[in-house]
Amino acid sequence: MIQTEQHDTIRVLVIGNPPVNALGAAMRRAIAAEMSAALADDSVSAIVLRGAGTLFSGGADITEFGRPPESPWLPELLDDVEASDKPVIAALHGTAFGGGLELPLACHYRVAAPSARLGLPEVKIGLLPGAGGTQRLPRLVGIADALSMIVSGNPITAARAHEIGLVDRIVDEQRLTEEAVAFARDIAVPQGVRRTSEIAVAPAPGVIEAFVEKQGAKLRGLDAPNACIKAVRDASTLPFREGLASERETFLELAKGRQSQAMRHLFFAERAAARIEGLPKDAPTLPVARVGMVGAGTMGGGIAMNFLSAGIPVTMVEREQAALDRGVATMRKNYERTARSGRLTTAQVETAMGHLTPTLDFQALADCDLVIEAVFENLDVKKAVFRQLDGIVKQGAILASNTSYLDVDAIAAVTSRPEHVLGLHFFSPANVMRLLEVVRGARTSPTVLATAMALARKVGKIAVVSGVCHGFIGNRMLEPRQRQADALALEGVRPQDVDRVLLEFGFPMGPFQMIDLAGLDLGWDEAHSSGSTIREILCENGRRGQKNGRGFYDYDENRNRVPSVEVEGWIRDFAARKGVAPRAVADQEIRERLLYTMVNEAAKILDEGMAQRASDIDTVWINGYGWPAQTGGPLFWADGIGLDTVIAGLEAHADRLGRDAEISPLLRRKAKEGGLTGPA
Ligand code: NAI
Repeated sequence: MIQTEQHDTIRVLVIGNPPVNALGAAMRRAIAAEMSAALADDSVSAIVLRGAGTLFSGGADITEFGRPPESPWLPELLDDVEASDKPVIAALHGTAFGGGLELPLACHYRVAAPSARLGLPEVKIGLLPGAGGTQRLPRLVGIADALSMIVSGNPITAARAHEIGLVDRIVDEQRLTEEAVAFARDIAVPQGVRRTSEIAVAPAPGVIEAFVEKQGAKLRGLDAPNACIKAVRDASTLPFREGLASERETFLELAKGRQSQAMRHLFFAERAAARIEGLPKDAPTLPVARVGMVGAGTMGGGIAMNFLSAGIPVTMVEREQAALDRGVATMRKNYERTARSGRLTTAQVETAMGHLTPTLDFQALADCDLVIEAVFENLDVKKAVFRQLDGIVKQGAILASNTSYLDVDAIAAVTSRPEHVLGLHFFSPANVMRLLEVVRGARTSPTVLATAMALARKVGKIAVVSGVCHGFIGNRMLEPRQRQADALALEGVRPQDVDRVLLEFGFPMGPFQMIDLAGLDLGWDEAHSSGSTIREILCENGRRGQKNGRGFYDYDENRNRVPSVEVEGWIRDFAARKGVAPRAVADQEIRERLLYTMVNEAAKILDEGMAQRASDIDTVWINGYGWPAQTGGPLFWADGIGLDTVIAGLEAHADRLGRDAEISPLLRRKAKEGGLTGPA
């Protein structure tokens, strides 16, 4: 587990626990033993700690969560490391996350290779750094930078860590051990130990208040980030030991809480989603060296950017030059915006765009390994495109559709290679949103499926497998929610009140805001529009959503929304024509009808085998539709409130639910068996 090397009087401990050098109980015991040995050995003047392989350490062993802690605890081990009277130097490369950064914080010095990424991501699983991180980091880098790192959970680069004083020296990765040893000999030994806990936190009046002022609204109701803020405040007001005790207490409280359980559920859910039932982890995949894109519209451009950013060349075809030019210009504009924000260099923008071959010539797709279609959402149009692709693109290549709803099997059937066809449903904006639904057709081959999953991982997407059904997992569940939202509007609930209930639940936007954002005219057919739905009435009256400043809401030039009295009037008139009498509806009913019907639909999706597992559904709704992460997703949430409660709610509202009243037999069964999500 630990290899030791002796370089003159410097003892180097190489921690090796593949794949991420996790600091599980056995590793903690090994570090403690090697530290004691080095301290007892008179020939040792200083100790260097580094990771084996490509990283320092990914942190705690997450499988230890929920189990009784085994001695030594990480906080105890780190206290002992810090108490060492011989200087201890951490030499970092690759990842130093969570406990894997708290350990270096307890060392007396830190050097890092440029590849190092340093972060405390605990907040992302509903926790706070629980091994002194909240107390030591502010002492090294000050309140402002510590707050931003701990509350966001996002890692920083080695260069940034050096800038803020977290790292003492940047060293060469190839010579990590040698340069750390040189640092130990030339700096650490002469200067002696430098205990982080003994450093005073630099006064930073008003910094925490300003941070809360800026972030407060976003963090309302979220246990972990607020606990992180409190812990950093403690670091500036309490003696180290008291701050540490308070950190520990808060950590244990958070770990017991439902929010942290929910976020850990999601952590495991995302990993489980990558597993395909019946396929070995190392199932063979096809090489994808060049991707073809058909359609350079909203989705085509965004999808292409994923591959370009990962260094995979893309050939993009359109049916007309103007659309192609527009698509390419939008991609460039998006890249340049990212460059202006500092997340890309201009050289990286040029490299990415340099990988793009825009053309009107379909023949140019011939040697692509994967071609993704993102043309209009119309089955006949898509079939025509797939027939054409099948004749042009080399045999063995994969053909994928980005369709939102259509029958992938029907599309596959027009080709001579249905086993090489599948759906790749990206979410808008496709260069930003991490979710990807991988739609497995009836005849999609396991190799093609495995290739799609591996490629998704390579371009940083969270892929979830769905079967072929109308709307797949995500959009299928959106439909009952929208049906209920529309029905509630007819019953006299104002759109802004429907939206408000979901905002209060934690969604970033409600159903009517979402329609305004996507565009009311998406799928609207002007020629056949006959005022038969609220949406048609709005479209016919020139309300297209945010894009023209008028939808269910009115928007000003800064896209601030105000409810529309005009729209309320139309809805009232429409309801009267339909004979629906207005009634007072409590928020609880709104919430139950919107959300319980989704849970019910999810149970049907599971029952039909359209999703592989309940946690996949949570992954889809958290990453694709803004379901509040702290609840763990629709099914973890439903299990929390009790499936009996969900069923009782559906039954209570049955008369008003229309086609959503039919309760899934699986939901009833799982209510008896104790839940849908079960152990992750
Ligand atoms: P869009 O209208 O922005 O772009 C479609 C593009 O395809 C247009 O530029 C058009 O010129 C081009 N096109 C049409 N027929 C073509 C053909 N035969 N050959 C080459 N190019 C052709 O549409 P958008 O929004 O990008 O949607 C594309 C697909 O992605 C649809 O299936 C849609 O359902 C799906 N989708 C859309 C999402 C969205 O939020 N807009 C989200 C997820 C999927």
